[in-house]
Amino acid sequence: MKSQDIRKAYLQFFESKGHLIVPSAPIVLKDDPTLMFNNSGMAQFKEYFLGNATPKSNRITDTQKCLRVSGKHNDLEDVGFDTYHHTMFEMLGNWSFGDYFKKEALPWAWEFLTEVLKLEKDRLYVSIFEGNEAENVPFDQDAFDIWKQFVPEDRIILGNKKDNFWEMGDQGPCGPCSEIHVDLRTDEERAAVSGRSLVNADHPQVVEIWNNVFMEFNRKADGSLEKLPAQHVDTGMGFERLCMSMQGVTSNYDTDVFTPLIAKVEGITGLKYTSNEIKNVSEEQNKTNIAIRVIVDHVRAVAFAIADGQLPSNTGAGYVIRRILRRAIRYGFTFLDTKEPFIFELVAVLADQMGEFFPEIKKQQSLVTNVIREEEASFLRTLDQGLQLLDKVILETKGKEVAGKKAFELYDTFGFPIDLTALILRERGFSLDEAGFDKAMQEQKSRSRAASEVSTDDWKILVEGNTESFVGYDQVENEVKITRIRKVDSKKDGVLYQIVLDATPFYPEGGGQVGDKGTLISANETIEIIDTKKENNLILHFAKQLPENVNASFVAKVNTDLRVLSSKNHSATHLMHEALRAILGTHVEQKGSLVNPNNLRFDFSHFSKVTDEELQQVEDFVNTRIQEQLPLIERRNIPIQQALDEGAMALFGEKYGDNVRAIKFGNSMELCGGIHVSNTAEIWHFKIVSEGAVAAGIRRIEAITSDAVKKHYASQESLLSEIKSTLKNPQDTIKAVVALQDENAKLKKQLEALLKDKAKNMKTELALEIQEINGIRFLAKQVDLNSEGAKDLAYELGTLGTNVFLVLATAEEGKPMLTCYISKELVAEKGLNAGQVVRELGKFIQGGGGGQPFFATAGGKNPAGIQEALIKAIDFVK
Ligand code: ALA
Repeated sequence: MKSQDIRKAYLQFFESKGHLIVPSAPIVLKDDPTLMFNNSGMAQFKEYFLGNATPKSNRITDTQKCLRVSGKHNDLEDVGFDTYHHTMFEMLGNWSFGDYFKKEALPWAWEFLTEVLKLEKDRLYVSIFEGNEAENVPFDQDAFDIWKQFVPEDRIILGNKKDNFWEMGDQGPCGPCSEIHVDLRTDEERAAVSGRSLVNADHPQVVEIWNNVFMEFNRKADGSLEKLPAQHVDTGMGFERLCMSMQGVTSNYDTDVFTPLIAKVEGITGLKYTSNEIKNVSEEQNKTNIAIRVIVDHVRAVAFAIADGQLPSNTGAGYVIRRILRRAIRYGFTFLDTKEPFIFELVAVLADQMGEFFPEIKKQQSLVTNVIREEEASFLRTLDQGLQLLDKVILETKGKEVAGKKAFELYDTFGFPIDLTALILRERGFSLDEAGFDKAMQEQKSRSRAASEVSTDDWKILVEGNTESFVGYDQVENEVKITRIRKVDSKKDGVLYQIVLDATPFYPEGGGQVGDKGTLISANETIEIIDTKKENNLILHFAKQLPENVNASFVAKVNTDLRVLSSKNHSATHLMHEALRAILGTHVEQKGSLVNPNNLRFDFSHFSKVTDEELQQVEDFVNTRIQEQLPLIERRNIPIQQALDEGAMALFGEKYGDNVRAIKFGNSMELCGGIHVSNTAEIWHFKIVSEGAVAAGIRRIEAITSDAVKKHYASQESLLSEIKSTLKNPQDTIKAVVALQDENAKLKKQLEALLKDKAKNMKTELALEIQEINGIRFLAKQVDLNSEGAKDLAYELGTLGTNVFLVLATAEEGKPMLTCYISKELVAEKGLNAGQVVRELGKFIQGGGGGQPFFATAGGKNPAGIQEALIKAIDFVK
C-alpha cells in the first residue's frame, strides 16, 4: 500500500466507528506557554481532557503533524543515525472524550492492524502497565484481560512507568498506556532470538508503532496525581513506521514517504543512498547515508513549520527551526560536499508528495522555498567565516590543543557547529579540548535555565464547572466573580497571579492584538490587571497581587483608553492588508502582526522591497477607506465555510473552529477575534513609518494611526523648525543645506591639497633625520598628519634610496596609527616583514593590523603607547 492509501485507510476505519475526521492542527502551537510545537496528536485536544472546553464530537480522528525537538519529548540528536526517529512525523490518532474506553479502543486497534491492513499477527507484541505503588496506580488488569482475547500471553509484556505511563509534560493529563510493537526481522532472525526480548530495547526492526493511552489522571504541580472528571482515550500511531511495516522494508527512509526526497538529493549531489537492505556498507557510504537521512528528515520539519507561519529566527520556536535547518545544511556541507544552497529544491518534491493532504505546503511552496534558500545561503556564509576564524584560532594556539572556550565562542557567536570544528582540527593535526567546550556549554545552559525558570502552582478552584465566558465584544465593564486563581513564580517576571473570571470583558492577547489592561474593583479594594492572555481556552488575567477577599463580587473594568487605541490600529491593519493585496498582488499573505496602543506591525510575504511609490499608494488606499467612513460589520458565530465562501481571509497556521467571527469594513473581510473600531472614521489617519525585510521573502511594515499620527507630524514640524533656526532661518531651507554641503566639499578638497604639500615639506625635513644602523636607513617618528598623509610620506621617503626601514606614527583625532615601510631588498634579504612589525608594535597602542611584507598599518586604542612603540621599533633593525 502506498503511504497515501494507508493514511486514508486509517481515517476511514475510525470514521466507520463513529469518529469525526478533523484536520491536523498547525505544527506550531499558540495559546500554550508550556509547549512550542505540537508534539503529539492530543496536544490540540488538551483543553477537552482538562474539561476547559467541550469537543464538537466525543469521537475524533486525524493525522497530526508533530515535531519532537524540544521539551520533554526530543529526538533531534538521534535523527539520521537511526532509521525510525524523526523531527517531524505524522501521528495517526483516535480519541474518545469521556466516551468509549479500553474495551473498544484495544480491539479496534487490533482489528485495524490485522484485518484491515493485514499485518501478520505473530509479528505483533503488546505492552501494558505493570502498576506503580508509589503512584498508587495498579496493574492494568483490564487491558491484560482484553488483550488475552487476541494475543497469546507470551506476547503481552508488562511495562514500567517510563514505557507504559504516558505524560505529555511535567504537568497535565496522563495515564497508563498500552503499546503495540512490530517485529520486522527475517524469519531466521526471529527464530534465533525472540522478539519479546527486543521490545523497548532500541532494536531498529522491533519498534513501537501505536500507543493507546487511557487518560484518567491529571499530574499536578506538586507531582501528585488526581483523577480526571472523566475517562478518555488518546492514541497515537507513527505513520512513517506503519508505512515501513506495510511496505516490506526495514527503514522508514525506504518507504515512499522519503524515497522521492532521497532520489532528489541523489540527483543534486551525484551521490548514492543505499537502502537498509544493503548490509556492510563502507564507512564513507554510511556517512553519506546518515547525512541524506538528516536532510530529507529535516526539510520536512522546516518546510511545514514555515508553511504554518513559523519563520526561522533568533529566538524561541523560530530558533529551534533555524537550528534544525542548520543541522541539515552542515551535514550536507561536511559529508555531501554541498557548498551551495540545495535543500530548498526539495520543497517542490515535498509539495508534490504531501500537497494533496496538506494543502498549506502546496499553496505556500514559493515562500517556503525562498525562505529555505536564503537561510541556506546565509548559513553557508557563516560557515565560511567560521572557517576563517578557525584558521585564526589555530594560528594563535600554542601547542596542539585548541581551547574549548575558543571553540565554544565560535559555536555560540557564529553558530559554527562543534563537530565541524573538531573534524577540521583533526584534519589539521590539532585536537579539541572537549571537556573545556562541554564546561562552557553547561555554564551557558545553566545561565539560560536559571533565567527561564518558572514554577506554576495548581489552580485553586473557587467556582466549580466550565463557566468562563468572554463578554468583551459588547462590554468594557462587567460584574464578575473569580472562578480560579494560580500563582506563577518566574525569574523573568517575579511572582504573578493568574485570575480567571466567570464572564470577563478583558480581551486576551491574540490575533496580534495585545491583551487588555484594567482593574478589578470590589467594595473594599482595587486590583490592577497588567495583562490578559489565553491558555488552553482559559482567559488569564495577570495581577501582581490578589484581592484579600477573592470570593467578593468585582467590577472588571477594561482600560478603554488603551483598548480604543489598539482597536484603531487593529482595524487599520485589516485595511492595510487589503491595500497590500490590491497594490502588490494577491501573493501577499499575512505572516505575523502586532497591534498595540502605540502602533501596528505587519509582516507579509512579498519578494522585493516595497517602493516609496507603492507605500504611498498603500497609505492613500487606507486613508481613502478611512474617509469613506465604512461601518464595522461584525458577524459572530457564522459557519467557517460560509465565511470563506463570502471571501473572508483566513491565515495559514491559525486554528479555526467550525464557527468563526468575521470582520468586514467595505471589501475587507477577515476571520478575526480582535477588537475593532465601529467605523473606519475613528482611525482618523494612517501613516507608514517604516518598511524593511524580516526574512527572505518576508517584509515588515510599521505604521501608526490617530493620535500617534498627530504626534508624529508635530515632532516632524518641530524638527524642521529646529533645523531652520540652526541654519539661522534662511528663506529657502533646502537651498541653505545644499550650499552648506557644497562649501563643505570644497573645503575638504582644499584641505587634502594642503596636507599633501605638508607631507612633501616634511619629506625634506625628515630625510635629514634618517640614521644609518647596520647598513639600514632607519627612522621611527610621530608625524602630525592623517593616516593617508603618513602613507604618502612613507612612500615618498622610501624612494630616497635602498635599505629603508620606516615606522611613522600618527594620532589623528586621538586615534593612534602605525605605518611601516620596508624596502624590497630588506624584505627579500633580511627577512624583515612590515606586517609582523606592526603586529608586534601594535600591542603598545592596544591595536592590531597587517598588510604586506613591505607595507603595513595598525590602528589602536591607546595613543599613550606611541612613544614606546617607536622606541621598540629599533629592535627590529638591531
Ligand atoms: N499521546 C500518546 C503518544 O504520543 C498517544 O504516544
